[in-house]
Amino acid sequence: MTITIAVAGKGGTGKTTFSALLIRYLVDKNKGSIMALDADANANLNEALGLEVDMMISDILAETKDPKSVPTGMTKDMFIDYKMSHAVTETKTVDLLVMGNPQGPGCYCYPNDLLKKHLDSLSQNYDYLVADNEAGLEHISRRTIPNVDYLFVISDASARGIRSAGRVKQLVDSINSPVKNIFLIVTKVTEDGIEALKPEIEKTGLQLIGTIPLDPNVTQYDIESKPLFDLPEDSAAVKAVQEILNQVKL
Ligand SMILES: Nc1ncnc2c1ncn2[C@@H]1O[C@H](COP(=O)(O)OP(=O)(O)OP(=O)(O)O)[C@@H](O)[C@H]1O
Ligand SMILES: [Mg+2]
Repeated sequence: MTITIAVAGKGGTGKTTFSALLIRYLVDKNKGSIMALDADANANLNEALGLEVDMMISDILAETKDPKSVPTGMTKDMFIDYKMSHAVTETKTVDLLVMGNPQGPGCYCYPNDLLKKHLDSLSQNYDYLVADNEAGLEHISRRTIPNVDYLFVISDASARGIRSAGRVKQLVDSINSPVKNIFLIVTKVTEDGIEALKPEIEKTGLQLIGTIPLDPNVTQYDIESKPLFDLPEDSAAVKAVQEILNQVKL
């Protein structure tokens, strides 16, 4: 059975950073095969992982829009299926699938439907599916990502971020979505700590599973566009993510 892990939260809070470090954790611990899904239209998980992506799902859609592009003897569906399998960037440790940018207005529902259809069969080949989501929870609410085992809601160390995390929790509750475990992680925590945020955190009803400090190494790697996979083992963020995930026992 594939263990599905989704990462959500307000824009810029540290979702992609956490997703990349989570994947690194799974790789380091030899947990099994991993499919990473960049479900953010403004994709950058590949950079965090240090991977080049040749094809995104949005490219496939753009290409198959023209009926003439579909080879004779193939239905459009078969052709998309074939293309989808080629959109997976494969490496020794992790395979990556990228949603990409919507191609004009009204077009975005279609990739979601497509993803839903193909993701299920594709992800069955992996022990883990790790989805880095856009700020909204569209893919979870539309069930593009089915049966989430672990949802990590990421907030930065601000009251606004925490309230936003609370709204994610409300949304998950309201859509009656099959999310088995939901945890809050507060990132970019400075030496001020999160004591002052505790009342806000309590109001969300989310279980705080841990915090990730503001790590100068992460800042530096971001500036230099270096993959987070290469962060030193003793980096504060790497260690914090290890501690969090050891508790969760993925
Ligand atoms: N623990 C950390 N220490 C220092 N900087 C961090 C940390 N976590 C994230 N950042 C920085 O914060 C910025 C946003 O992080 P990231 O891209 O992971 O957020 P995001 O939630 O995925 O954003 P978006 O909503 O744009 O996809 C980046 O510049 C990243 O380097
Ligand atoms: Mg991101």
